Amino acid sequence: GDNVMYLAQRHDLDVEGACEASLACCTCHVYVEKFFDKLGEIDEEEEDMLDLAPFLQENSRLSCQII
Ligand code: FES
Repeated sequence: GDNVMYLAQRHDLDVEGACEASLACCTCHVYVEKFFDKLGEIDEEEEDMLDLAPFLQENSRLSCQII
């Protein structure tokens, strides 16, 4: 399926996705600059993986989980 990680990669943005969107890494970590609140709740699985990401911020998300 489509998600922000694949979209970013298709547009040659520098977003990795080591686990191919299976929530087993945090290399697809991004900061959401706009509309963060519109994306809905972060679920627990994403939250757990996100906690391992370096330089975590309030607007951090795993881009493969943004659909
Ligand atoms: Fe691994 Fe997103 S690509 S969690």
